[in-house]
Amino acid sequence: MSFSFNEDNQKKFEELQKRYPKIDSLMLPSLWMIQEQEGWISKEAMEYLAKKLGKSPADVYSVATFYTMFKLKPVGKHHICLCKTVSCKLRGSQKIKEKIEEKLGIKPGEITKDGLFSYEEVECLGACGGAPAMSFDDKYYENLTPQEIDKIIEELM
Ligand code: FES
Repeated sequence: MSFSFNEDNQKKFEELQKRYPKIDSLMLPSLWMIQEQEGWISKEAMEYLAKKLGKSPADVYSVATFYTMFKLKPVGKHHICLCKTVSCKLRGSQKIKEKIEEKLGIKPGEITKDGLFSYEEVECLGACGGAPAMSFDDKYYENLTPQEIDKIIEELM
């Protein structure tokens, strides 16, 4: 499987090159473009980006693996990141986890058969004051209850 930017992303990349004098600054926006284009960031895409930036694949990998927002394997059309860290644990994230698994019939790291949903457990989302918290696509949900999980997921089914 090979990867290259589509026409739009190639244009965006060229625009960004003009804007940023330091090539390293293109790393994060380029990773976003790959993820938006493919839904996730494959090893081949990282190698492609490394060549474009004149970096080693390990440089790209180290950035892509540092941020949980970058998906390094395929995910569903809608992706849930449920916080598994202490504040959320103390405020009931286990019940949220059980509800998500019951509702979608999947475990962390899995995708529903129709490809619509996937979910994973992640470290602190930085929303401890609103624990338990999760991100769902680009949106954050805080002070979650199992009933809210029903509502949030049903809206997208
Ligand atoms: S511990 Fe869950 S958001 Fe920080």
